[in-house]
Amino acid sequence: MTTAGARLEGIGITRRYGGLTAVDDVSVVAEPGRVTALIGPNGAGKTTLFQCLTGAERPDAGRVVLDDRDITALSPDARARLGIGRTFQRLAVFPTMTVADNLGVGAENREPGNGLVRNGKSLLGIFGFPMVDTARHQRKVDETLTLLRLDGVRDMPAGALPTGTLRLVELGRALCNDPSVLLLDEPASGLDTNETDNLQHVIRQVAASGVAVLLVEHDVDLVFGVADMVYAMAEGRLIASGRPDDVRAHPAVQAAYLDVTAAER
Ligand SMILES: Nc1ncnc2c1ncn2[C@@H]1O[C@H](COP(=O)(O)OP(=O)(O)O)[C@@H](O)[C@H]1O
Ligand SMILES: [Mg+2]
Repeated sequence: MTTAGARLEGIGITRRYGGLTAVDDVSVVAEPGRVTALIGPNGAGKTTLFQCLTGAERPDAGRVVLDDRDITALSPDARARLGIGRTFQRLAVFPTMTVADNLGVGAENREPGNGLVRNGKSLLGIFGFPMVDTARHQRKVDETLTLLRLDGVRDMPAGALPTGTLRLVELGRALCNDPSVLLLDEPASGLDTNETDNLQHVIRQVAASGVAVLLVEHDVDLVFGVADMVYAMAEGRLIASGRPDDVRAHPAVQAAYLDVTAAER
């Protein structure tokens, strides 16, 4: 990974749905070179905040700032071109394309243009027409496949692979864009223990390369193994923030999780 990281900040973000305040005046910062985690029980408002940061949702109040630039009004595509990468909680791989080609699509996404144009260009590449900077893209794809330990399945059609592997493919596509900020919403869902360990390792390596990683997760264990900084939300509000051990021990965090665990069991 060659792109330097950037700092992503949400300042006083509020998002309402009718009478419900899903996110209530929450501020978070994801620093370059760090893994920042956003935790909280289901319904806490994590995904809503995530969507405000990616641009999929407009906050009712607050600002989103990338380094020194206010990006609150920018579309998701414009944010992606500025280096904000993300994965989708619902997998969005192309099932008939190989793993390597799925990553190759990602290597196009920083270029201007709408989705159709981008996909059209990628398809031209697949069918053997020259693409811009093909060698560089291919190198990026190869590097990323190795980082994710996907070399063994690089020529398999993505549709034939289990969910755990597809989550890595999806992550690989985001990494091929050379993001300066990487936002992951529950990337471990559907992964087994080995796959989760591998994911933790990858997340650490991505952060070590300078990227600001923001990890949204309700699985507390995954977060505490990998995060430098943790924000905890419950019922739309920030209830604690700081180093993982301090946040884990925080009474409000314990209470929020105990309530939910009791309700789930
Ligand atoms: N599009 C929406 N319309 C109405 N309510 C929503 C919408 N998205 C989320 N919510 C509500 O906002 C709250 C926070 O949801 P969400 O951000 O998905 O939480 P989390 O990701 O922490 O589980 C929940 O009560 C949820 O039902
Ligand atoms: Mg969510």
